[in-house]
Amino acid sequence: MTGNPSANGHTPVPPAPAERMHLVVAGHVDHGKSTIVGRLLADTHSLPDGKLEQIRALCARTSRPFEYAFLLDALKDERAQGITIDSARVFFKSPVRQYIIIDAPGHVEFLKNMISGAARAEAAFLVIDAQEGIRENSRRHGYLLGMLGIRQVAVLVNKMDLVAYDQLAFERIVREYRDFLRDVDVIPAAFVPVSGSGGDNIVAAPSAMPWYAGPTALEVLDSFQPQRSAADEPFRMPVQDVYKFTAGGDARRIVAGTVESGTLHVGDEVVFQPSGKRTRVRTIEAFNLAPQRAVSAGSATGFTLEQQVYVARGQVATRSAEREPCVGTRLAVSLFWLGKRPLLTGRPYILKLGAARVSAQLEELHRVIDAATLEVAESRDRVERHEVADGVLRLAAPIAYDNIDEFAATSRFVLLDDYEIAGGGIIRAPAGQPTADQRPPTPSLFVISALEESDCRATAEALETTLRGREVPAYLLGTRGEVGHLAAVAQYLADAGANVVLSAPRLLRQDVHQLEAALGSDRVTAFWIGPDTAIGEPGGIRVASTDPASAAREIHAHLEDR
Ligand code: GTP
Ligand code: MG
Repeated sequence: MTGNPSANGHTPVPPAPAERMHLVVAGHVDHGKSTIVGRLLADTHSLPDGKLEQIRALCARTSRPFEYAFLLDALKDERAQGITIDSARVFFKSPVRQYIIIDAPGHVEFLKNMISGAARAEAAFLVIDAQEGIRENSRRHGYLLGMLGIRQVAVLVNKMDLVAYDQLAFERIVREYRDFLRDVDVIPAAFVPVSGSGGDNIVAAPSAMPWYAGPTALEVLDSFQPQRSAADEPFRMPVQDVYKFTAGGDARRIVAGTVESGTLHVGDEVVFQPSGKRTRVRTIEAFNLAPQRAVSAGSATGFTLEQQVYVARGQVATRSAEREPCVGTRLAVSLFWLGKRPLLTGRPYILKLGAARVSAQLEELHRVIDAATLEVAESRDRVERHEVADGVLRLAAPIAYDNIDEFAATSRFVLLDDYEIAGGGIIRAPAGQPTADQRPPTPSLFVISALEESDCRATAEALETTLRGREVPAYLLGTRGEVGHLAAVAQYLADAGANVVLSAPRLLRQDVHQLEAALGSDRVTAFWIGPDTAIGEPGGIRVASTDPASAAREIHAHLEDR
């Protein structure tokens, strides 16, 4: 099963792709990105039959001028009824290959698209309005392309009709933008004067600019090389899920995910990182298909193992005897910040890379760069919105990753602040081992129990607040019973590097043992609030105070003593 985001009948489903390339279209707001994409679709005859006429008729009926950008909206609306996708993704084909276009409406979308493995951009158009000239986002997007390692770039100087197709106006922009891009490691393959609405130099050459003898936008695209085939690279599959077969008492597990790169065969030895656990592949399962012998980059798949080793979401499946990923907790990174609140050193965020999510903080901030002016600031303690920074991230638990120079797909990450994407970046290298006192503490499970649920809950909340106030990332979980189920959730959070405060009324000694068996006894500490009862032997260290705030203080003092 390979994901095909347009397979719902309306948008033309391309034939089995001989070759595909992801193209991202970037540039300042209103400079004509969507118009150019609409043109590319129309002029390569990649639109569904009648679509163009339908939109023209609709515009005429509603007395609106026709816009090529409407085509995209129309396609998006149709698709939205079928499947949910997070960005505008459309297909078109040239005689050379098939393209998947990512039309990035804003910074966050742009970053998401650039960083999610499924839509790894190999080429980019940077669109500039000839009349407005270079704006902040023209520069920022150029900077991001350089940082993310997108090397095949064409600059389209758009709306040439608005400057009377003037060669000098075009050349002024070329000079200025080329200098900026050189400073951020982007060497465009071409600068093309175009008009998105008129169609000049998009697919066909115009008569309006006889002074221009270079390639059209499409010709530049077709001249790009597909990057090294992902199927030949080392095998990487971020583990999305581990499913149990439920039928007939079958004890097997399926390890599921999408193959980022490389190829996996039945019988191969797989190594899960960061755990380093290894075993062989028994079968490769495919959704609605017969079992397969091998699976390659781009496919969503699942495989079963010869031996049951511990595998969890967020790990990366690799093949032994191939280049290993790095594993570690300290990363030298370059990142781009979009958050409304500044990125602060020492504050906890969530880092997402592949399927892994882990608590992370910016431990060292080496320099901060304004992505539009390229001004550099040193000795800062924060990164403001739209700034770029180099520094060191420290993770609460190890992850598997690659360095940007070796392998872009598994070196790009995003940072979440309060559940929202607030930044992203690339890993340049491991950042050396921390000294013992810098090493992140092993995440722990703190269980708060009492006779009454309300007492547990109040104390657990007070403890969570106390811990967070001391910059210890902690999450609150509650249960009314059923400890076994919670052990799995707590394990998951602890793997992600988070401390967990569990509110669990009437916890017995055997429940505590069960949690210790799941997480390791050194990681579980249970506290019992208030008086004893006849419910059996309660688990945990006795806490004398029953007032939540003072109980939390007592617990915290106890933890600090350890
Ligand atoms: P956002 O998605 O909002 O960032 O904008 P965009 O970059 O996708 O721009 P869009 O394609 O929506 O075009 C913005 C406006 O510029 C529209 O009104 C277009 O009709 C107009 N436009 C686009 N290309 C041309 C062109 O070549 N010439 C002229 N005159 N107008 C153009
Ligand atoms: Mg647009």
